[in-house]
Amino acid sequence: SERASISALPQELLLKVFRFLGPLDLCRCGQVCNIWAQVSKTGSLWRHLYPVRWARGDYHCGPPGELDQEPDDDWVKSLQDEGRAYQEWDEDADVDESEACEGSPAINAVQREKTLLDGMIQKLLPVVGSSVRSLSLAYSSTVSSKMVRQILSLCPNLTHLDLTQTDVSDSAFHSWAEFGVCRILEHLDLSGCHKITDRTLKILSLGLGDLMASNPDRRAKLLKAPPSPIKLQDEHSLQPIGRSCQDLIFKRRPGGRGSGCGSAHVWVLDPAKLADIEDAADWSKPGGVSTQESGRGNIFESKGGGASCCCRRSRRRSFRTGISSSHWQYGSMGDAHCGHSTCCTSDVSLWTVRETHCDLQAKGGGVDFRTKGFEGESCPDRHNRTDQSGAFRTLRFLSLSGCYQITDLGLRCLSQRGGLPLLEHLNLSGCLLITGAGLQELVSACPALNTQHFYYCDNINGPHADTASGCQNLQCGFRACCRSGE
Ligand code: FES
Repeated sequence: SERASISALPQELLLKVFRFLGPLDLCRCGQVCNIWAQVSKTGSLWRHLYPVRWARGDYHCGPPGELDQEPDDDWVKSLQDEGRAYQEWDEDADVDESEACEGSPAINAVQREKTLLDGMIQKLLPVVGSSVRSLSLAYSSTVSSKMVRQILSLCPNLTHLDLTQTDVSDSAFHSWAEFGVCRILEHLDLSGCHKITDRTLKILSLGLGDLMASNPDRRAKLLKAPPSPIKLQDEHSLQPIGRSCQDLIFKRRPGGRGSGCGSAHVWVLDPAKLADIEDAADWSKPGGVSTQESGRGNIFESKGGGASCCCRRSRRRSFRTGISSSHWQYGSMGDAHCGHSTCCTSDVSLWTVRETHCDLQAKGGGVDFRTKGFEGESCPDRHNRTDQSGAFRTLRFLSLSGCYQITDLGLRCLSQRGGLPLLEHLNLSGCLLITGAGLQELVSACPALNTQHFYYCDNINGPHADTASGCQNLQCGFRACCRSGE
């Protein structure tokens, strides 16, 4: 009798088999032949990405629910030790990199993580990006703002993003600087991302969309029923894709802005924007934000405050920090834009972020320092959304713990455009510059907030004082807190 071969299986059945495999096995299968490579890059196989864990042999690929809790202390400590070891090695590695890491499991793990992230960005996400729902890069010591920016461009339908304790800055979120572009985001964890400023919150608020402008009744409806997910076009089909993903390389398009959905090339860098070297600039600026950019003085500077400004009163508080007094000290920010809602007018224009739709971008009017298209692909995935009238502002979880540069102006951005009607969990521990008034303004725009999951500095006389939870960073040791070390 004729022997059946696994290579004779229809691709639909092959996909069913592949659903039982983890990321490591899928990658191995992808190297067997062209058909297997094609099936292994089916979007539904790559919904939940945990590259930091995968690089260390933990191949969990289910939904993030069970990983939502804080990882145990040993895991965090080992990742931090690896990051430190890698950093030291990297600084001395110009002599002979191949020998330097020999025998060091810590450095090897970080190198694996970096290789994995690079490969994911270049080979996998251009194919499956629209299907990715959750991504955790928590405690990664190799991910940069530029990498996150690339990933967010390639994964427009993320609902869950965890960047806990990474070195990202505002420039990581430039691809969200379009109206409604991250409108189905539900969970955003930026705990310990100390370079984040109000600019990110401004971009986030823009990306989440506007409940009020599009439909005045939307907010009421949203509160009554959970939003339906955005419908996507069919995920990466099983039809032959004509060429291997190996060919999906990043190229710089010689022209400037304008072609939007064109089939041409990939990374468009407008030298005037210099977004790609922004990461480098972040390093040169104490606190990661320029005075020009933020409209306020650097927190390390000591300028005179306005007589009526609450900052002046607050400056007299003697906050302490057990980690770096120069780093998290409450500095004066001048009297113009202190960031406190009680001192600043609502129309203070700190940033230039254009509210623009994709079609505007295609006409050359959009933000031009980002991915525009992929060679051989019709257009970026976000253009493939078929439900343009889907729910907006679906954020349920937001942690800015330790983001000590956030001010009331950032909170105000979140409360605009209909607020955050579904937000249940809000962690503002270690946000030293916000005030009770700023908190009150945001909380009044978050009707679903669960006060047990509402954290802010113990020294702030804020809303829900009796039921809200206190600052979570008191004993943390590595996140900003005005009372750490007490
Ligand atoms: Fe004030 Fe932690 S930030 S108690």
